[in-house]
Amino acid sequence: MFITFEGPDGSGKSTVIKAVYERLINDGYSVILTREPGGTPIAEKIRDVILDNSNTALDARTEALLYAASRRQHLVEKIWPAIKEGKIVLCDRFLDSSLAYQGEGRKLGIENILNVNLFATENTYPDLTLFFNISPEEGLKRVSKDKKRVADRLDNENANFHQEVYNGFLKVNSMYKDRIQVIDATKSLNEVIENAYKIIKSKLEN
Ligand code: TYD
Repeated sequence: MFITFEGPDGSGKSTVIKAVYERLINDGYSVILTREPGGTPIAEKIRDVILDNSNTALDARTEALLYAASRRQHLVEKIWPAIKEGKIVLCDRFLDSSLAYQGEGRKLGIENILNVNLFATENTYPDLTLFFNISPEEGLKRVSKDKKRVADRLDNENANFHQEVYNGFLKVNSMYKDRIQVIDATKSLNEVIENAYKIIKSKLEN
């Protein structure tokens, strides 16, 4: 079972994924928790290039290809082997982030980014995706309140970019209605965790 968590910056998905991971481990499931871009040493090196604030010359298509490259390396080294061993894989961001950020945010086109990614992933889609729904304004407000958080190259894009990314996510949600479940991320953290956990449990028990 391959489950991904998606949403705008500041949606809380990274906190929720950790809590859900702990609960599934407590229930006795064999689970791994991973993230994109990154998840393996090579993919983390690619991540550093992508998110480095000093890489102001990084071209949008290069950025899209780097995300896809890091995704492939992550699949080969970590996700596919874990799935083969029968583990549940929880991944913080995956394909849909590229469709929204690079396809819509960078205006490269959702179809183009999908094609590049299907080459990279050999048509691997998650079994289930949770989308943590919060407006980009609310999300960015939360990000700026979090003193520990260092803004990366994507966080530092302007409000218009984040609005385009959000529009991209809404398009992607409607393209994959069966796979993507939308969770209201404006509720209390406990409620959001509970909702995410319930959806995953019902998928696992089916
Ligand atoms: P992430 O580490 O998930 O940051 P956050 O904690 O803010 O969610 O991702 C880093 C940034 O990379 C984030 O702004 C989203 C962006 N991103 C893309 O643009 N395309 C992608 O394919 C992925 C996976 C992430």
